[in-house]
Amino acid sequence: MFNPTHAIVPYFPPPRILSCTPSHLPIDAAHSSEMHTVSAHSSLAFLPQAHHNAFAMQKIPVEVFPSSQDAVAKLAAETAELIRSNEAAGKQTVLGLATGGTPIAYYKELIRLHKEDGLSFANVTSFNLDEYAGLPQDHVESYWYFMHQNLFNHIDIKPENINLPSGTVADADIPAHCAEYEQKIKDAGGIDLQILGIGRTGHIGFNEPGSPKDSLTRAIELDPITREDAAPAFGGLDNVPTAAITMGCGTILAARRIVLMAWGEGKAPIVNEAVTGPVNDIVSASYLQEHANSVFYIDQAAASKLEA
Ligand code: F6R
Repeated sequence: MFNPTHAIVPYFPPPRILSCTPSHLPIDAAHSSEMHTVSAHSSLAFLPQAHHNAFAMQKIPVEVFPSSQDAVAKLAAETAELIRSNEAAGKQTVLGLATGGTPIAYYKELIRLHKEDGLSFANVTSFNLDEYAGLPQDHVESYWYFMHQNLFNHIDIKPENINLPSGTVADADIPAHCAEYEQKIKDAGGIDLQILGIGRTGHIGFNEPGSPKDSLTRAIELDPITREDAAPAFGGLDNVPTAAITMGCGTILAARRIVLMAWGEGKAPIVNEAVTGPVNDIVSASYLQEHANSVFYIDQAAASKLEA
């Protein structure tokens, strides 16, 4: 089982405040003053009108859909187009994938496109964001299991092109395992399209509060809120792993395009914080404000607290 003392980035639970001073922050974050600056989204000027948001406070392009189904239909169609155009050019498509409740409908739509529309994943390489520490692949709550149940078993992706961090690597080998994961992403040519959800802590992947913008794949201790959210699936808080291996914020931000999905009222406050708040390490999704090609696809309920 993962021993937090071996984490590459030490974790010090920060206070649950959203406008902070460096003195409130964990050690890694306190060193970096640029994390507390607000910057406009650099891609806004180049986006088609539909992507513009009418609200000056919003610093990431946001598309609000009538329903999550409408959003995933659009995202799956975009994904299919990317895969097909790369295939026509003789290129592999590299997808960064997420787990959790949010992307399930998107995966269903990809499966439908595979079965009914002939979309092939034979030229796709995938890298998942994260895996719970301590869970073997065949554990029903492991992300390896989740991905096979919800996507991989139903499409023609080659098993050798599927990549997830391992939850069972020995503590002493975690740094090497993480470095190898980073290298594999680089060797694959980098991530073309990164799919994200957002946790109530504002995490992307499992980059909990205190995660530096340039962090790479590493072991991390899970925030109590994240563990609480996972408790029902694990049959109680005591069964929820305390740590995970996650791609870092820097790993995610290196993707050429990033789409973050969020559904439901429960996500509305943190979506608003990520989109309109300061760029800071308390809400790692706020770093997406500084990515040139990131967008939020959200439903109306998740948009209900967006500030004008
Ligand atoms: C999952 C992941 C997480 C989830 C987030 C939202 O691989 O990296 O960041 O996207 O916790 O989870 P759901 O979708 O279950 O609300």
